[in-house]
Amino acid sequence: MSRPYAQFSGTGRSIPSKILTNHDFSKMGLETSHEWIIERTGIAERHIAQDGETTCGMAAGAAREAMQRARVQPDEVDVIILSTATPDRLLPATAVDVQAELGASRASAFDLSAACSGWLYGLNVGEGLILNGTAETVLVIGAEKMSAIVDWTDRSTCVVFGDGAGAAILQKSRNNRGILSSYMRSDGTLADLLFRPAGGASLPMSEAVLADRSHLVRMAGREVFKAAVRSMSEAADRALEAANLTGHDIDMMIPHQANVRIIEATAKHADIPMDKVYVNVDRFGNTSSASIPIALDEAMERGQIGEGATVLMVTFGAGFTWASMVVRF
Ligand code: COA
Repeated sequence: MSRPYAQFSGTGRSIPSKILTNHDFSKMGLETSHEWIIERTGIAERHIAQDGETTCGMAAGAAREAMQRARVQPDEVDVIILSTATPDRLLPATAVDVQAELGASRASAFDLSAACSGWLYGLNVGEGLILNGTAETVLVIGAEKMSAIVDWTDRSTCVVFGDGAGAAILQKSRNNRGILSSYMRSDGTLADLLFRPAGGASLPMSEAVLADRSHLVRMAGREVFKAAVRSMSEAADRALEAANLTGHDIDMMIPHQANVRIIEATAKHADIPMDKVYVNVDRFGNTSSASIPIALDEAMERGQIGEGATVLMVTFGAGFTWASMVVRF
């Protein structure tokens, strides 16, 4: 009998309906242009949550879709892992609000903080819980309301991010399908290249913090760009090696959607042609840890990931953190 795997039994997504185009930024008085944004990032528009649309609400919407596709009832979920950099409240975890909203009464629920890499980190944790017998059904969600933490006066950051949520149900399989390999790394010496300086316990909210906007995202774009290409390329190599595969064996690569130039460089390094790379950064911008599950769910819905397809997922984010995973569907 083959070894057990943690497999994907269903995916889902939830996207706010409001769209903000590149042209809208100029109308808002920001000194930028559609041409600049599209050329440097590949982003044309992003979805933005409106008043009343919360991280919890988007997470629960994506979770419901994933549970329905997996034919899982709320009381069958053992663990809810919510990856987010934008929890609705700092205490308690937003995952428990999601649990309450879903009625997943038997579940344990917690947030996971690894920025854009968080969903792959969460899948790793979920796989571990399944393989060590702690859980049979794990719900892994990535949900972000980045619009709440970006500085809308900073043209070098606010144009790249967007809101949304994606989710998957993981369950044990013995049919050689599921997570074949995974890889995770962090480098905290580079934390200050992409961060929110204040608003946490070390520098709580105050009038001074509000005045200098240091509770909002700050990013050294060029350094982050270089590190993202380097780290995602390395991560792709490591997960492929561990699965004993090369780029030629991959049916679909689903990279973190931060910047189309980062995606193209990573795909080139892994020797995967762009027609096998899922790209939706043009429509969503960077939705942080929601980006891979949203892209995966779209690709599944469009029939682009058939039974038996081998998929490489690879990501990079604040921390820095980076991760990759090879999955057989
Ligand atoms: N519109 C117009 N000009 C802009 C701009 C905007 N939205 N944002 C920045 N600029 C300007 C800068 O002010 C700078 O002007 P200067 O030369 O007069 O000082 C110039 O463009 C170049 O800035 P730079 O930051 O070097 O541009 P870039 O080519 O590196 O592009 C990013 C900026 C943010 C698009 C790019 O660095 C990037 O995508 N980085 C990675 C971001 C990322 O993926 N983050 C998340 C990781 S999970």
